[in-house]
Amino acid sequence: MAPLYKKTLVVGATSGIGEALAAKLHAEGTSVIVTGRRQDRLDAFVEKHPGSGGVAVDIAKLHEIPSFVSSVTQQHPDIDSVVLNAGIQRPFNFSKPETVDLSIFTEEFNTNYVSFVHLVKAFLPHLQRVSRDTEAHLVFVNASLALVPTLTRTPGYNASKAALHSFVVNVRQQIKDAGYNIRFVEVFPPAVQTELHDTKHQPDMINGHEIGMPLGPYIERMYEGLRKGDEQFAIGHAEEWLKEGGFEATRTILFEQGNATIKEALAKYVKST
Ligand SMILES: NC(=O)c1ccc[n+]([C@@H]2O[C@H](COP(=O)([O-])OP(=O)(O)OC[C@H]3O[C@@H](n4cnc5c(N)ncnc54)[C@H](OP(=O)(O)O)[C@@H]3O)[C@@H](O)[C@H]2O)c1
Repeated sequence: MAPLYKKTLVVGATSGIGEALAAKLHAEGTSVIVTGRRQDRLDAFVEKHPGSGGVAVDIAKLHEIPSFVSSVTQQHPDIDSVVLNAGIQRPFNFSKPETVDLSIFTEEFNTNYVSFVHLVKAFLPHLQRVSRDTEAHLVFVNASLALVPTLTRTPGYNASKAALHSFVVNVRQQIKDAGYNIRFVEVFPPAVQTELHDTKHQPDMINGHEIGMPLGPYIERMYEGLRKGDEQFAIGHAEEWLKEGGFEATRTILFEQGNATIKEALAKYVKST
């Protein structure tokens, strides 16, 4: 089968979903550039996957994002797809407010949401150029917790993912309205066995890396979903929510209807730019 994309940059590919997806893309013929903070992991990936590239970046350093994007797209003008996958998850118990470290809360929100906004702004001019000749893709790795925040121990994580979903729905529509050939794809994974819940990140967890679906089968399902080409899809229990009649499918219909109505109603109030 033909490769999914020509060249993909995966943000957050030093472990877990990002690393496994990058390996799968590479195995299926897409060129990959992997990123993350851990240089040793990037080096190991590049050594194992001939032809791939690795660029270290800390996306929580928001001011460094424009120069990172400009440099990587100059070096790789054939990037036609970007997977925004990096993320962290931290527990907070607001019933014991004295235990809540707001600097960690802010770091989590910046990593999972604000940095994605900065990355989208920085990558769009490149993807808009590329999309003149070929279909471009921006893939967002979200979480089923964005849709129903059942895991109350991680209120900041759930809110960051819900914010991301709202942002993706709106910006996807703006890009469509402007006529660009850029597909915004959003994926809602279930719990997956990665480093996300690892004791090193969440010290109150015991064997957190064992939580959820094994990574290998998850990646096969995610790759299959990307190949199918839906704008948003889930793996696991949230699949029902996105099927016809499911609450997220209904929300999508309400968005499309409401957006059309509001656009028409606002036309006489908003100056065109
Ligand atoms: N595992 C799950 O149960 C699950 C469920 C739903 C959604 N997700 C989502 O899936 C995505 C991947 O997570 P994962 O489960 O694969 O966890 P993971 O194994 O911990 O991987 C997280 C990745 O994000 C990168 N990252 C974190 N902070 C970064 C920063 N400041 N700058 C650059 N890269 C950074 C990490 O690289 P470095 O540490 O090297 O920087 C790593 O490559 C996340 O968005 C997560 O929310 C995971």
